Amino acid sequence: MIADFIVYNIKSLYHSREIPPVKGNKMKMIETLEQPFIAIKDGKVLHVGVADYSALVGDKTLLFDAKQKVVVPGFIDSHSHLVHAGSRENEFEQLRQGVPYLDILQAGGGILGTVDKTRKASFDELYAQAKKSLDVMLSYGVTTLEAKSGYGLNYENEVKQLEVMKKLNDNHPVHLVPTYMAAHAVPKEFLNNKRGYIDAMLADLEKIRATNLTEFVDVFCETGVFDLNETREILEAAKALGFKVKLHADEIDPLGGAGLGADLGATSVDHLMAIKDEDIIKLAKTSTILNILPGTSFYLNKTYARARDMIEAGCALSVSGDYNPGSCPTENFQLIMQLAANYLKLTPEEILTAVTQNAAFHLGLASQKGSLEPGKDADFLLLDIPNLAYLFYHFGINHVSHVFINGQQIQ
Ligand code: NIG
Ligand code: FE
Repeated sequence: MIADFIVYNIKSLYHSREIPPVKGNKMKMIETLEQPFIAIKDGKVLHVGVADYSALVGDKTLLFDAKQKVVVPGFIDSHSHLVHAGSRENEFEQLRQGVPYLDILQAGGGILGTVDKTRKASFDELYAQAKKSLDVMLSYGVTTLEAKSGYGLNYENEVKQLEVMKKLNDNHPVHLVPTYMAAHAVPKEFLNNKRGYIDAMLADLEKIRATNLTEFVDVFCETGVFDLNETREILEAAKALGFKVKLHADEIDPLGGAGLGADLGATSVDHLMAIKDEDIIKLAKTSTILNILPGTSFYLNKTYARARDMIEAGCALSVSGDYNPGSCPTENFQLIMQLAANYLKLTPEEILTAVTQNAAFHLGLASQKGSLEPGKDADFLLLDIPNLAYLFYHFGINHVSHVFINGQQIQ
C-alpha cells in the first residue's frame, strides 16, 4: 500500500495501545517507539514503524521531516463549556476572599450571570468568541473537544449554543463533540419553581433529540442545583430517548452522583473531588470513565480528586480542562496536564492515556481516535521536547510545534 504522506525523522513516538477503558495499572502502559515514521493514507494512519519506509513511497507521496521532534496522539479534552458570552473576572476577587462558588450562584451570579450574557448574545457573537478560544486550544494541542451547552437554559438559547458548535464543527479543524446541558442551573424565571423547569427540560429533551445536534446529556448534580433524585429523573428520561448520559458529580458536596452515574451506565462522571470511597469501588467494576478536572480545583482553590486512590482501585480515568468562564478560565490544556502531574500525582504515562484513549472512549470515539494505530484518524502532534517527562517538567509554556488532524498539517 502506498502512503499519501509520511512523517519521518521522528525522535520518539508515545501512545497507549491498550484497549479502552484503560483501567488501573494499565494506564501507565505506553508504547514508545524510537526513530519511527508515521505513514498516512486518506487521513488515517496507514502504518507506524521503525524500519525502512521506502516500500510505502509512491510518485505522489509527500514526505515531512519531523526534525527529531516527539510525536503523540492529538490531545482529547473531554469536558468543556466552550460556547458562552463574556467573562467573569468580576468574581475573581470574591473567590480569592473565600466566598464559596455556590454562594455566588445562589446570589444570581456565577453560571446565571453568564446565562444573562449568553441569552443576549447573537449567534455570530457566540461563534466568534468560541472560535477564538478553540484556536488557542488547538495551538496547545487539542484536536478533539467535548463542549456543553448550559448557558441558555431555555430551548431557544440552548439550541443556539448547540448550533454554534455544529457550525464550528463544520468549519474548524478541531473535532467537536457537543453535549446538551440545560440541567446546568435553574434559571431565574423558575427560581421558585424548579419542578416547572425540570418539566420544561424533559419536554425539550424530545425536541433536542430530533435536532440531531447532540447524543449526550449532562446534569450538574450538586447542592442547590439538581439533587440526586432530580438528576436520576432527568438522566433516565434522556436514556429512554437514546441519549448517552454523564454527570457533574460530587464536585463540592458528596451527594453520591458518582455512584448514580455507575448505576445509570454513564459514559463519564466528572469532577469527583468529594467522591465517596464506596463509589470509587463501584465505578472500578464499570466502563464509566472518571473524568478529573484539576484546573477547576486549582482556580477555585479546592481540594483535588483522589486520582491515585481511583487508579489503585482499578478505575479508568480521563483528565480534562473544564474550560469555562467561572471555574476554569484557561484554554491551555498543557497546563491542565501539568496540574494533573503535580496535584493528582499521575505519571506522564497515565496522563497521556487519560487524555487520549480513555477520553476517546467516553466520547464514543475509541475506534477512530486516541492512539496512532492503523485505521484510526491521523490526529497527532509534533512536540519540541526530548522525552515525555519533559512535557510536564517544563511547565506553563507551549511545547507544540506542529498539529496534524486527519493527516492534514493544521499548524
Ligand atoms: O464544570 N460545575 C458546574 N459547571 C462548570 C462551571 C460553570 C461556570 O461557573 O460557568 C464546571 O465547573
Ligand atoms: Fe463542567
